[in-house]
Amino acid sequence: MTRFPIEQVRAQFPALDNPAIYLDNPAGTQVPRQVSAAVGAATTDAASNLGGYFQASQAADAIYERAHEAMAALLGGASGSEITIGQSMTMLTFQMSRSLGRQWGPGDELIVTQMDHEGNVSPWLHLAEERGMTVRWLPINRDTWRIEPSDLAPLLNEHTRLLALNYASNMTGSINPVADLSRLARSVGALVYVDAVQFVPHGKADVASLGCDFLACSAYKFFGPHLGILWGREALLTETYAYAVRCAPQAPPGRHETGTPQTELLAGVAAAADYLGWLGELTGASGSLADRIAGAYQAATAYEMPLAQQLIDGLRAIPGVSVQGITDPRQLAQRVPTVSITHRGHRNSALARALAAQGINVWSGHNYALELARRLGLDEREGVLRIGLAHYNTAEEIDRTVAALDALLRH
Ligand SMILES: Cc1ncc(COP(=O)(O)O)c(C=O)c1O
Repeated sequence: MTRFPIEQVRAQFPALDNPAIYLDNPAGTQVPRQVSAAVGAATTDAASNLGGYFQASQAADAIYERAHEAMAALLGGASGSEITIGQSMTMLTFQMSRSLGRQWGPGDELIVTQMDHEGNVSPWLHLAEERGMTVRWLPINRDTWRIEPSDLAPLLNEHTRLLALNYASNMTGSINPVADLSRLARSVGALVYVDAVQFVPHGKADVASLGCDFLACSAYKFFGPHLGILWGREALLTETYAYAVRCAPQAPPGRHETGTPQTELLAGVAAAADYLGWLGELTGASGSLADRIAGAYQAATAYEMPLAQQLIDGLRAIPGVSVQGITDPRQLAQRVPTVSITHRGHRNSALARALAAQGINVWSGHNYALELARRLGLDEREGVLRIGLAHYNTAEEIDRTVAALDALLRH
């Protein structure tokens, strides 16, 4: 296999000129220069509303269309009409839960997991409360660190309207068997709403093979700007009630995007997909944008996961450290490179602060995986210390981080 072009990759990210070590990636990645440039250019070339007869407006139209097409390519959708873009994954999920839930009421049931980020839990809990629906909680399996189909099956019945679950955990990093879980849920006629926020920075989501109905992610977690992306089956987007002004577009993609789109950021969303396409080409892929993006993910995974194992092994060698997630190298394909740890004798917030003082950016707390923190018996506020890789990190950064933690924890 060809060597991963890490120097060329890092050169794309101006922030990496800083001496800091960015291991806060599950909370948001750094931005390549082509994304910043695209956002900047849109503010000078396309600072106009959509649908006008003049050049700047037509440029804004083109940006809008391109961003939706690029996200369809990223997620395996058939066209930009299946994509809804909004402020954040959480906002989109609140909005879609409202729209879907108008048809549901007492007697109807929905399933949320004990593994998910609150962005894919709270919207459904609010909905259930408002409409008198029954909530069923799907547990995480403590041996496999994921949601098992055998735990889903007993929760399903003819009243199940929706299963909300994540693709990969923002705490343990484990990847769920989404295709199997979707198939089960859909066999009783339930809709499946997937939170892929933590998967998309590391792997090629393919909505067609996952068999879900909705899949949400966040561009700022995959090298883009702060916007949320929602893929949905076009027929569902078309049928589902839209909270929109009366004269707004009735058809997707505009149907669930009420208000003026954030054109500058949309330009950055498309550029993030193009960045991945560029990486794919650099690592030997060719063909359509979707094909090149798939190539980029393949090369990035082959580079990232040995670093993740290096991190896991280094952390486990520190006395008193528990890794809250998969550690077995044979199961590496079942996780993303987000590694969370706990230590009996130290507060995670204090460790994160001490690392920050050394220029090492990590996160601490429950990171909004609230139920998971409870389920793992963690201190809710302190949660875990989370160290999350992206494909621009290096083995040397991992070594330095492990050494810094080792020194702090032996204190
Ligand atoms: C797994 C997961 N889901 C949802 C979200 C929320 O995404 P957003 O910030 O776009 O609302 C996050 C953010 O960290 C996340 O990690």
